[in-house]
Formats: sequence, C-alpha cells, structure tokens
Amino acid sequence: MTHVEHLEADGPYSKNRNMAATAPKYLSIWNMEAYYGESYIVQGISFDIHEGEILALLGRNGAGKTSTLRAIARMDDPQLNSGEIWLDHKPLHEMKSWQASQAGIQLVPEDRSIIPGLTVEENLKLAQIAPPIGWSLDRVYDLFPRLKERRKQDGITLSGGEQQMLSIARALCRDIKVLLLDEPYEGLAPVIVQEIAKTLELIRDQGITTVIVEQNAVAALKLADRAVILDIGKVVFDGSAKEVLEDEDLRSKYLAI
Ligand SMILES: Nc1ncnc2c1ncn2[C@@H]1O[C@H](COP(=O)(O)OP(=O)(O)O)[C@@H](O)[C@H]1O
Ligand SMILES: [Mg+2]
Repeated sequence: MTHVEHLEADGPYSKNRNMAATAPKYLSIWNMEAYYGESYIVQGISFDIHEGEILALLGRNGAGKTSTLRAIARMDDPQLNSGEIWLDHKPLHEMKSWQASQAGIQLVPEDRSIIPGLTVEENLKLAQIAPPIGWSLDRVYDLFPRLKERRKQDGITLSGGEQQMLSIARALCRDIKVLLLDEPYEGLAPVIVQEIAKTLELIRDQGITTVIVEQNAVAALKLADRAVILDIGKVVFDGSAKEVLEDEDLRSKYLAI
C-alpha cells in the first residue's frame, strides 16, 4: 500500500483526529456554576473539547458528572447561574434545552429513556419528527444492524445493551454535533461494553464529538482521547486518557481503581 492509499483508507476524520491538538476548540466550557435550589453543585467547571474527540468525564459517585452533562445540555435542573458554554461559536449558556438540542447537543441519560409502547423504529422516527433531522434510518441501521433486526419490536423489550444502542441511535437521528453519554456501560456485560465501545469509535470516525461519563473508568479511558476528572464539583485533572491509565496515584485518589 502506498502512503497516499494508506491515508485514504484512514478516512478524512481520522486525519482530523490527528490534528485535534492544534484544531480550534469546539465545545468550550468556562467557569460553569450550577445549583439545585440552594445547593451549589457545579462549582466553576472549565474544560475544552476539540471536534471529533472523545472525552471521558470521570470522578466518584456524587462528584457532579451528571449535573455537568445536564448543565451543558441546558436542562432546567441544575440551574446555570454563571459561566459560559460555547459550541462551535454558539452561546449555549444563553439557550434553553430545546435550543441546545437544535444546536447539536444530544444527551443520552443514564435511564436511557426508551419510550414504552413504541417499537424500535417508532422510537427512532419520533426523534426525527421535528427539524433539524440528523442521520437517516438507513444510516443508523448500518451502524446498528441489531436494531434493524429488531425494528418491529417494542423498545422496552430489548436487552440492556440493545436499549443503550437504541438510545444512542435516537441521538444520532437528531442533528447531532456533540453526544453526551451518561454511564452507557452501566449494567452491561463486558462483551456488550466492547461492542458499544467499537460503535462509539465508528461514531467518532464520522466526526462526532463525544463526552462519556462512566463508573467503568478503565473502559472509558481506553476509548477516550482525553480525560477530565471531577471531585466535589470541581475539575481536579485535565489531560490525556493515557496519563490517567498510567497514573496509579491519580486513579486511586479520585477514581478508586
Ligand atoms: N436533583 C437534585 N437536587 C439536589 N441535589 C442533587 C440533585 N441531583 C444531584 N444532586 C447532588 O449533586 C451532587 C452531584 O450529583 P451528580 O451530578 O448526580 O453526581 P455524579 O453523576 O458524579 O454521581 C450530589 O451531591 C447529589 O446529591
Ligand atoms: Mg451520575
């Protein structure tokens, strides 16, 4: 294989990935503070993500990971009190959740939120009911052949792994730029975790930026390019995923692994 063929086989987004360190920041979170009522939970969080990167957002139970994802997606709870969130030069901090979704932020919550009484395909079509629409059903089924096989089945009768796939697939059906995943591997067997990780790599190769929150930190770190660790609502580490995998002190202090 010649050098040029090798590059083409890699695909255009793989080349972008290698440039990520010098590319402009795509999602930029600056001094974000958020509250549940009087409870000060997200305590001035800042980090950046480059386009097409996978970032693992880690930390112990209660560190503020879910709250951080919800604040970025501009959910009503927790309430964003100060700070800025920029997605591709658009001010998410000035938006409501539906506007953030239209801007390309798609949150896949921990409970997966499959709609009962609807088939797999109906769950997907519901995500495409209003513009801007993202991936076509064919494109989604190419990525998730198992969902195609089960497209007529009631979504809530799927296995845990398949429900997680449906939840991710539904996010892709929206016009997606950034995928926010809250504990996608929870309760899944290692072989299914590996299958989902492979799919997330393919999604990255299509140019989508991902933030993955996981208790299974090792699996998330193996997948991710970079890692941010939270502790008590603050960033305590921001660096490469490899650095965290190799730093035993850091892992035992903040991740208990
Ligand atoms: N709806 C809520 N109302 C009040 N406090 C909350 C709410 N949700 C989470 N918290 C508190 O915010 C902190 C961070 O929670 P969370 O973001 O869910 O952490 P993580 O996802 O890292 O486990 C915890 O102390 C939790 O008790
Ligand atoms: Mg959580």
